[in-house]
Amino acid sequence: MNDALQKSTPSHVLHRSLRQSYPTAVRGDGVYLIDKSGRRYLDASSGAAVSCLGHSHPAVLAAMRGQLDRLEYAHTSFFTTDAAEALGDELIANAPGEMSHVYFVSGGSEGIEAALKLARQYFVERGEPNRRHFIARWQSYHGNTLGALAIGGNAWRRAMFAPILAPSQHIAPCYAYRGQRTDETPEAYGRRVADELDAKIVELGCENVIAFVAETVAGATLGAVEPAPGYFKRFREICDRHRVLLILDEVMCGMGRCGTLHAVEAEGIAPDLMVLAKGLGGGYAPIGAVLASSGVMEAFDRGSGMFMHGHTYMGHPLACAAALAVQRTLREQNLLENVRTQGKRLRARLAARLSDHPHVGDIRGRGLFCGIELVADRASKTPFDPASRLHSRIKSEAMHRGLLVYPMGAPWTAAAATTSCLRRLSSSKSGTSTRSSASSVRRSMRLCQRPLRNPRNDIPPHGPAQPQSARIRDGISTAGLESGACSGQRSPRSPASGQTQDSKEPVIASGMKRVREA
Ligand SMILES: Cc1ncc(COP(=O)(O)O)c(C=O)c1O
Repeated sequence: MNDALQKSTPSHVLHRSLRQSYPTAVRGDGVYLIDKSGRRYLDASSGAAVSCLGHSHPAVLAAMRGQLDRLEYAHTSFFTTDAAEALGDELIANAPGEMSHVYFVSGGSEGIEAALKLARQYFVERGEPNRRHFIARWQSYHGNTLGALAIGGNAWRRAMFAPILAPSQHIAPCYAYRGQRTDETPEAYGRRVADELDAKIVELGCENVIAFVAETVAGATLGAVEPAPGYFKRFREICDRHRVLLILDEVMCGMGRCGTLHAVEAEGIAPDLMVLAKGLGGGYAPIGAVLASSGVMEAFDRGSGMFMHGHTYMGHPLACAAALAVQRTLREQNLLENVRTQGKRLRARLAARLSDHPHVGDIRGRGLFCGIELVADRASKTPFDPASRLHSRIKSEAMHRGLLVYPMGAPWTAAAATTSCLRRLSSSKSGTSTRSSASSVRRSMRLCQRPLRNPRNDIPPHGPAQPQSARIRDGISTAGLESGACSGQRSPRSPASGQTQDSKEPVIASGMKRVREA
């Protein structure tokens, strides 16, 4: 970042990096963020895949002002509010499967914590207190609080805190670009890696396992990686057979970013618990939610009748009013259709501009949730040396040029293109914005061959690069057992109806903005 972007006065705020100066954001304007000096940044990644409607959307701001005029806060142990009830109705009406209840929190990590505790208490309510294991995947990210970090599979983020993390179990991710063998179909690859869950449950004893947790489309660690066909169906079968809960983390990939309201809709299954955040409130207020199925809630109803959890700000009326306005805008303006249309257009443009680039290994994603994996060598898929901090250089240089992208680094690198661009795209008759957005990304990628501009400011959004580990390679080995000591019992999903690691670096694009042009 250049000097013009840096603040001159010392800050008392503990920022993400003590060594970096941050420009002061003072205003949002559709797809742009504007700093104190008047400089405009195209918010191409919607921050960390958050601002799905762009900035300063009038309908959302009006709803928030209206809520503030009526009521700013009421503690949930005394009251419910119209805003929370209306948002609950909206989410359940559009939820997959048999979801019956919503638990409101203030973000993604809090949502994951709540889901883990709901799942544990579900089994205690059912008289199975020995259930204690969570299984998740390497190369996943579920948040930075201790419980979420413990199940997450990002080795770099876990390393510092490993001695104080609760034990958790991990299986391989579904990462076809690096994991699928040349002699197998996508379906066979998906089944092979999904069957690692079966083997892990058998190893632990299904009577000891609470839940399997996964991002439906992998985001912040793996970089917009879609599951293989049939992969989640296989998980659903395995979880049902062993009576283990399936928890989906749609904090990043959900709420329309992939072209359906919930990414899991494309998988033809429903989870027992699902965590939402980011696009739920679109950045207008901190909010997350856990959707719980009727099968899970029946156990609470028949048991203690109370979830042993809670936060002061859960169900905050202002956050609920903001999220309700965001969700109604998505629905009423048919923005999911826009995501699908613009997502295809983005992918086509990225492919046309970048697929022959010597350092573009993979262009992937779903809807407007897109990533580009950069490699030092395409043929061998050799990652860039983490020490080069390429991802960080791309972020800095892009910002220097007025473009915000969301790269992760080491050992593989990627750069992001995104949402905000897309809103512009959709309103541009000539397509100029599209070209300029794609060009911006392409220009940033040319940095691959350039020396580091400013090492002091070369800090990635989540800290230093992770060391490359062999975990992903380990993960690729199969374990496809089909046993299940708990088989034949009723599914926890619906008791009534039976119904690596290591790091890596992706680039993430997200969002569904439409035409609300500034
Ligand atoms: C898939 C996923 N889960 C959980 C989280 C944590 O959410 P938050 O940062 O709101 O706590 C994130 C954040 O990036 C995420 O991508």
